[in-house]
Amino acid sequence: MTLYAHITGWGMSAPEKVLTNDDLAQMVDTNDEWIRDRTGIERRHIAAPEESSASLGAEAAIRALKVANLHPRDVDLIICSTSSPQHIFPATASVIQDRIGAINAGAFDLLAACTGFIFAMNMATQAIRGGAIRNAIVIGAETLSRLVDWNDRTTCILFGDGAGAFVLQGSDEPGGVISSVMRSDGSGGDLLCLPAGGSAMPATPQTIADGLHYIQMNGREVFRFATRVMANASREVVDRAGLQLEDIDLIIPHQANLRIIDAAARGLKLPMEKFIVNLQEYGNTSTASIPIATVEAAEAGRLRRDDKIVFVGFGGGLTWGAVTVIWTGPFPSAKPINFQQQRRLARIRSWLRRLVRFLEGLIWGRRG
Ligand code: ACO
Repeated sequence: MTLYAHITGWGMSAPEKVLTNDDLAQMVDTNDEWIRDRTGIERRHIAAPEESSASLGAEAAIRALKVANLHPRDVDLIICSTSSPQHIFPATASVIQDRIGAINAGAFDLLAACTGFIFAMNMATQAIRGGAIRNAIVIGAETLSRLVDWNDRTTCILFGDGAGAFVLQGSDEPGGVISSVMRSDGSGGDLLCLPAGGSAMPATPQTIADGLHYIQMNGREVFRFATRVMANASREVVDRAGLQLEDIDLIIPHQANLRIIDAAARGLKLPMEKFIVNLQEYGNTSTASIPIATVEAAEAGRLRRDDKIVFVGFGGGLTWGAVTVIWTGPFPSAKPINFQQQRRLARIRSWLRRLVRFLEGLIWGRRG
């Protein structure tokens, strides 16, 4: 029996606070015209102090579960793709698992920069197709505003915060994710990196003074790389699906720069109308950009059952990848689930577990 992995739910969450190009022009030596011309970006959403990759990711995941009408206890796997995790560990996916009450799920983070969501989608698909699991949530969640040097005009204009999530469910019905491409080229790792804070360069007063905890990027090189791989990966993934480019209804690319998407469209000889673009509103939300664009496309009625869609991304690593999907939509389900109640239960369950751990500590003794 071959199981197919269908996208049956989708959700997003973006912080309320908006930073326009004009706002940025008050902070660094830039202007609205330059940013629009070179990137297409007009605004980006910035997380409030109490928001984090986990809080945005959990919100997106709950919304995706609502669309799928899937109970949190029926989720077997949560993969959170992020380059701005809540902590190095525990995984942001584990924090989300606790918040949404997915009591039967394994949860882990995946780091492949902006390509991460594509890789995560593919990993969840393989787990479903292999029969190990039935239902997964794949999340892309970022708060890159916390890793950007707000004095560096070459990077701070690009990024925004947000999260998006898909529910993937197994079924014998053909469809869902039908082909994938995953690639990396570690020799280009230095083109887009965050040098300090890992085991190679732990945080010290000097690394902080040197600004090594901020994103560093060679924009021109990344631009060249991106325009090359977007078209190549799209062509390859369509070919692997046994389809022609003309069969594709929609391409949902990573939202980094309008000029990169435009170059990919020209390379593929496809009209821009086939590409979903919403970077003008959110900037580059890294691994969250593809699911956020998908949610907006779905809400605008641009995704129809049986549409053939290519998702394609690139990013630091270097990494790039694509998947071809036959769009499904939610599976028919019996009774609507009360997600507000599930949320409350998840909070109470989490609190009780902490309390039991505390009481056990008192009874059996605490060490350390
Ligand atoms: N405002 C005004 N001028 C600026 C700004 C700014 N914000 N930033 C740079 N400039 C200046 C530069 O100093 C330079 O001036 P100079 O000619 O006097 O030296 C001039 O503008 C041109 O700079 P370039 O870097 O050549 O500009 P370019 O057209 O390449 O655009 C950009 C820069 C937008 C960063 C582009 O290279 C790009 O989008 N690259 C890809 C970046 C990307 O997608 N990164 C994310 C990858 S995904 C991930 O993993 C997170």
